[in-house]
Amino acid sequence: MRPYVILNSAMTLDGKIATKTGSSEISGPEDLIRVHKIRKEVDAIMVGINTVLADDPRLTVHKIPSVPSDNPLRVVVDSRARTPLEFRILNTDAPTLIAVSESADPQKVEALKKKVDVVSCGDKRVDLQCLMAELHGRGVKTLMLEGGSTLNYSMLSQGLVDEVRVCIAPMIAGGRDSKTLVDGEGIGHMKDAFKMEFKKSYSLGKDMVVEYHVVHE
Ligand SMILES: NC(=O)c1ccc[n+]([C@@H]2O[C@H](COP(=O)([O-])OP(=O)(O)OC[C@H]3O[C@@H](n4cnc5c(N)ncnc54)[C@H](OP(=O)(O)O)[C@@H]3O)[C@@H](O)[C@H]2O)c1
Repeated sequence: MRPYVILNSAMTLDGKIATKTGSSEISGPEDLIRVHKIRKEVDAIMVGINTVLADDPRLTVHKIPSVPSDNPLRVVVDSRARTPLEFRILNTDAPTLIAVSESADPQKVEALKKKVDVVSCGDKRVDLQCLMAELHGRGVKTLMLEGGSTLNYSMLSQGLVDEVRVCIAPMIAGGRDSKTLVDGEGIGHMKDAFKMEFKKSYSLGKDMVVEYHVVHE
């Protein structure tokens, strides 16, 4: 058993979610409100460690009226326990779970455990199947995956994503070193692409939101 997973992201028309310098202010204020509404609805939000290191995100519900109990569990996929102790993801605004692997430095794990919950899944890298089962066991029925590109690929390639919701901003960034919606290893042939079924689309301020169901083959 695993949570129902919604991959949500903002991207440019050419599919970039950040520039080569890590700048990722893409969508408009209306989209940020949409994202915070989803945060309020789901049981957990998950990001990769590089997103934490790049953005120092809070991952709380703060752009719409809310009370502390509206904040979902914040999950960081961080094999080597690299989450900096002073970062906002470890504050007391919301519960946090850091998923590490057996390869993490025990001292770093202990330091994190003094602040938040830590779970170990996998030998070298975080085993995402194991993590999903762990989260489900902790009562997480719905989860929003908020990137970045590397974690998005791992989750899609392991069949762990159920919906993709993308806000497309009317801008083009370019750059071979700019992060796209999904990076990772990528597939070799288009016939093996992750298949989607259209759900809905709508304009939001200057942006366009498109939503798809992932077809599990
Ligand atoms: N526009 C948007 O909506 C949006 C949203 C999110 C992020 N972003 C941007 O995306 C960029 C970060 O993306 P990213 O691709 O570099 O990194 P990422 O996906 O945030 O994190 C990837 C890291 O997670 C760790 N990890 C552990 N187990 C993993 C597994 N099984 N599969 C995949 N990753 C695993 C790995 O580091 P370890 O091995 O050290 O654990 C890996 O390098 C940032 O610039 C951020 O601003 C944009």
